[in-house]
Amino acid sequence: MDTLVSLSKRRGFIFQSSEIYGGTGSCWDYGPLGVELKQNIKRIWWRDYIQQRPDMVGLDASILMHPTVWKASGHVDNFTDPMVDCLECRRRFRADKVDETPWVHYCAATKGNKFTIPAGEPCSHCGERRTLCPDCGKGSLTAPRQFNLMFKTFMGPVEEDASLTYLRPETAQGIFVNFDNVAQSMRRKLPFGIGQIGKAFRNEITPGNFIFRTREFEQMEIEYFVNPRDTVEGKPADEYWHERWIADSLAWFQRYGLREENLRLREHEKDELAHYAKRTADVEYHFPIGWSELMGIANRTDFDLKQHAQFSGKALTYFDEERKEHVVPYVIEPSAGVDRALLAFLADAYQEEEVRGEKRVVLRFHPELAPVKVAVLPLLKKRDDGVRTAHAIRDTLAKHWTVVYDDTAAIGRLYRRQDEVGTPYCVTVDVQTVGDSDKGESADGKVTIRDRDSMEQARVPIDTLPAVFLDLLSGGSWSAVAPRFR
Ligand code: GAP
Repeated sequence: MDTLVSLSKRRGFIFQSSEIYGGTGSCWDYGPLGVELKQNIKRIWWRDYIQQRPDMVGLDASILMHPTVWKASGHVDNFTDPMVDCLECRRRFRADKVDETPWVHYCAATKGNKFTIPAGEPCSHCGERRTLCPDCGKGSLTAPRQFNLMFKTFMGPVEEDASLTYLRPETAQGIFVNFDNVAQSMRRKLPFGIGQIGKAFRNEITPGNFIFRTREFEQMEIEYFVNPRDTVEGKPADEYWHERWIADSLAWFQRYGLREENLRLREHEKDELAHYAKRTADVEYHFPIGWSELMGIANRTDFDLKQHAQFSGKALTYFDEERKEHVVPYVIEPSAGVDRALLAFLADAYQEEEVRGEKRVVLRFHPELAPVKVAVLPLLKKRDDGVRTAHAIRDTLAKHWTVVYDDTAAIGRLYRRQDEVGTPYCVTVDVQTVGDSDKGESADGKVTIRDRDSMEQARVPIDTLPAVFLDLLSGGSWSAVAPRFR
């Protein structure tokens, strides 16, 4: 994780928020390359799930909602974590996670020497287990108290209870309260889904592990509405679609580069199910911190629509033409975190290898995810015609993709820089491209494309570059495209 944090800062992916003021707890800013990567994740998700599927539509609901939304959804009463406080240093921990952190121990058996002991283990000298604060090793912990994770705020100029509302802790509720608006305006028949990407806020007690758990994050959520009276392939429709969405979600992450061996499914035990869920399966990823949740796929039944109908007094039903009756749809909810997806893609792409005796760091991003698609590098930065040609190539390609020009180092170093940020292709402009009149050599109008993963090169006419990159960046492999130019 430290390697990823340091690469992210050094190469403009992710910076700590308000760093010059000492940083804000668990908030991060996406730098020039990070924002490209994040946008690419959101763009392919939107394209694959909203644009391309006939049974899906999109939504962008507001972050601030009517406060009753959160009463109806159960968040005011149930969206809590048990927390304990240290009476000495005042640090706060999640009661259910306090044994998952290494703990500080002043060992009586070694005359009070201070040790940091791995999470959950006893002291190897005195055999004692943790009872005090894991952080300072001195204070007792309070009994667990429930702590609501929603951020409170006030709407309007007066800070009073009547104007109290919350920053949304999930994007999902914006979809539920718009169910009828969308179904009516878009004349939707079940089953259909509504997808949304947006910010969510949780006042996590123990945020951390870089962008894995933060207090402000982004979600990509789908609420997929099905008729609970229907059966599909012999199964109740909600159970059939739940299975389908689990399989689709796993396949999606693999399609964009996460290795199969780094992904697994984990079923929630009955006692850990959220208050609204009939069944939830998490897609877990083997993060640098160990196996942890990447996304959840829950069967929320008709809980939310019924709650909002009850609290708002508005019917949130669907008229089943076949059975001539109103039903409250069931909901399958594939819910992924954008930031967690980004961390997983970054971790999976990161590789160190040795090339001709030197260490090469390379981010093997899927081309659709790579923040920069092509880097144009002039070999002769003192030749005006070479530099002009390189700029012209960048300008042409930049109409379609994120393309950079760089002439600030020698070519070997420029390649390493692009490898380290995951740029799939570099284009070099050399003396043959522009010719050398002093030596009587004419320009050949070709440039060299270098492939990040194989480091192979191919010489390609300049005027074919847009077509070649269209092929390479939309699914064509280097091994299929490069031989055309040998
Ligand atoms: N609407 C359902 C819902 O919000 P969740 O499991 O609490 O379910 C869904 O959140 C996803 O949002 C998680 O799988 C994770 O990817 C992301 N997420 C949740 N809390 C997060 C946090 N504090 N920081 C970063 N991502 C978070």
